[in-house]
Amino acid sequence: MSTGLSTVSYLGATILFILCLGGLSNQETSRRGNIYGIIGMVIAVLATVFGPHVVSSVGLPWIIGAMVVGGAIGLYAARVVQMTQMPELVALMHSLVGLAACLVGYTSYIDTSIALGGAEKTIHEVEIYVGILIGAVTFSGSVIAFGKLSGKIGGKPVLLPGRHLMNLAGLLIVIYFGHGFLNAETVSQGMAPLVVMTVVSLAFGVHMVMAIGGADMPVVVSMLNSYSGWAAAATGFMLGNDLLIVTGALVGSSGAILSYIMCSAMNRNFISVIAGGFGSDGGAPKKAAASGGGEPAGEVTPISVTETAELLREAKNVIIVPGYGMAVAQAQHAVYQITSLLREKGVNVRFGIHPVAGRMPGHMNVLLAEAKVPYDIVFEMDELNEDFPATDVSIVIGANDIVNPAAQEDPGSPIAGMPVLEVWKAKTSIVMKRSMASGYAGVDNPLFYKENNRMLFGDAKKTLEEVYAALE
Ligand code: TAP
Repeated sequence: MSTGLSTVSYLGATILFILCLGGLSNQETSRRGNIYGIIGMVIAVLATVFGPHVVSSVGLPWIIGAMVVGGAIGLYAARVVQMTQMPELVALMHSLVGLAACLVGYTSYIDTSIALGGAEKTIHEVEIYVGILIGAVTFSGSVIAFGKLSGKIGGKPVLLPGRHLMNLAGLLIVIYFGHGFLNAETVSQGMAPLVVMTVVSLAFGVHMVMAIGGADMPVVVSMLNSYSGWAAAATGFMLGNDLLIVTGALVGSSGAILSYIMCSAMNRNFISVIAGGFGSDGGAPKKAAASGGGEPAGEVTPISVTETAELLREAKNVIIVPGYGMAVAQAQHAVYQITSLLREKGVNVRFGIHPVAGRMPGHMNVLLAEAKVPYDIVFEMDELNEDFPATDVSIVIGANDIVNPAAQEDPGSPIAGMPVLEVWKAKTSIVMKRSMASGYAGVDNPLFYKENNRMLFGDAKKTLEEVYAALE
């Protein structure tokens, strides 16, 4: 493929990626956005593999072989992964981008065929150093995030004494060895500072994510998303690949915007997040203990399926708040059935979606869209939070942290200040879950003990199917 054709293909792919991002910002256009992304990626891969950068056809079978193996693994993972495991999978994917950046960095440094001198050499080495640094932080941070999201590593923050000083020391070491690396005469001289920096960066990634409490994980997921974009951009600089630079920058900046949105949703300070200071008061575990941690306190009023159906039959306004439990139970289709039935009976049914409901951005929207719940009855938290006092029944399906009044009522709570859906302001609130277990943040939920709250215990899907049968 000629250089001209390759450039045009890259340009086309870039435009398709931008259209893809634009499409993904809205549920109704997201399917189209995805298709743009797929076409863009196919063009990008073909233009790279058959483009002027692959100089000899000797390497082609290797590239195709690697693509077949990688594609097969990706296809298998996509088919077997459960919807509830998606966030872990995404974290794992981010770690691969980081690892790729590290490997490309080392390869570019060792590659003696790139003969550069003067300023060009320095710029190339800075690209390598920074690329490996971002890649290593992304890699180890994402592996820990994977562990935390999959429950293999505990959700409680690990706060080492003097951790900010340790981070500062790490930064100084990285700068010091960066100086040594840039002044190295030979590859073997430069290798030692490069390895030291990689180890420090890997340790920093582990330390950064280990220090984050359960409730702050959404911010970490979107931040690592952003880091993986910058790691890809850095790889693009090292390889001199414009498309990779642009794509990486798109992912990096959209991830940064998502982090900002997540911060606002969690009422966290964006600057302190960027500086790695979230949960910085070290508050999460201590405050959790102070407010009783995950230990339930008080008495709850259970409700039966028949009573729930009766309440719903008599209601005029209903708000449904789905959470992670709906994803676990795969209850979205049962939710849709009940919604349709109630709407046929003239009940005004709406959905309230918290920005961090579930385990990944847009988790609930995806599930509801899959079940064909109409978009126009699905609202953001801010759009309907004021409507709860005029609501007859609010139904909480497998949600916990996002409807926890402690965020407003208990300044000592680890989730204090986080905006929540005020379901308890409805005439009656019904919480569907299996037990009194706490949510992801590990804090008790005073909602369960409120006078107007009822607990409908059981697996959300099974219970909702029973409610549907009773309603019919
Ligand atoms: P959670 O607070 O995690 O609560 C989910 C509840 O669902 C649990 O209390 C659980 O109680 C219940 N549940 C689980 N399986 C169920 C089933 N089969 N049937 C019925 N109920 C079931 O979820 P949330 O309210 O959606 O809040 C999200 C939390 O995750 C926040 O703390 C957020 O910070 C965090 N987080 C979010 C993200 C993103 S980006 N959205 C990423 C990482 C972490 P039982 O065990 O008693 O049934």
